[in-house]
Amino acid sequence: MQKAIIVGATSGIGKSLALLLADNGYKVGITGRRKNLLAELHTERPYSFYSLTIDATANHLEENLQVLTEQLGGLDLLIFSAGIGELNNDLNIDLELPTIDVNVKAFNKVVIWAYHYFEEQKGGQIAVISSIAGLRGGAIAPAYNASKAYQINYLEGLRQKTKQQKLAISITDARPGFVDTAMAKAEKKFWMATPEKAALQIFNAIKAKKNVIYITKRWQIIAFLLKMIPRFLYERM
Ligand SMILES: NC(=O)c1ccc[n+]([C@@H]2O[C@H](COP(=O)([O-])OP(=O)(O)OC[C@H]3O[C@@H](n4cnc5c(N)ncnc54)[C@H](OP(=O)(O)O)[C@@H]3O)[C@@H](O)[C@H]2O)c1
Repeated sequence: MQKAIIVGATSGIGKSLALLLADNGYKVGITGRRKNLLAELHTERPYSFYSLTIDATANHLEENLQVLTEQLGGLDLLIFSAGIGELNNDLNIDLELPTIDVNVKAFNKVVIWAYHYFEEQKGGQIAVISSIAGLRGGAIAPAYNASKAYQINYLEGLRQKTKQQKLAISITDARPGFVDTAMAKAEKKFWMATPEKAALQIFNAIKAKKNVIYITKRWQIIAFLLKMIPRFLYERM
């Protein structure tokens, strides 16, 4: 039986992924800060889920991941779906720093922990829900875009490292456009996917050991266009 941990499983994409993994025979360690939502989710697949309340920005993050892994009896897949981001037109530093705490520092701790675990085990899979927002800077939520750029760049570095070390660790970077969750905060939204559809495409990408995917697939077109826009033009948009 395959074993997975999802950091950020209490709602949205992480929750849909948890249910999908359970329905595909995985034992799943579900985590997040909201105890009540974790308890509710646990009742949906009580024989598949192992839950642990984890604030990814708090102390003992790695110890908690270890505890959950022991409860599962091992680990094959670690998914980092935790994320926050605020619209910050007034450039308030108090809105920017928490985003860095979750999307950069906690992300970093979790993927390094997972990398070393899988290095020792000689195999495993890491999947992170980054964002199309990480492809360019963004005036509306600068820390969010920058934090997602950090994730994208970091995962590329890790992929390079697995090749250098000849390690069988697959690293999937899933980059959604808009998914219908609390995180879809922009005023103008389009091509919005349901969390269930997003989760299915991410699950298929994990099974296929894909490096990078866009959620949904047509967001590849936006990604291509975003990367093509020259800087002098982009900065005036
Ligand atoms: N929805 C979109 O349009 C969209 C687009 C691009 C990328 N994404 C990315 O997709 C990922 C999942 O977001 P979502 O759309 O599914 O939104 P969501 O429903 O708000 O899910 C966010 C998850 O992150 C967890 N989380 C936040 N802070 C945490 C912390 N300190 N410790 C542990 N868990 C924490 C939340 O759990 P607790 O609150 O219970 O801790 C929740 O389970 C995020 O990284 C987001 O940036 C979303």
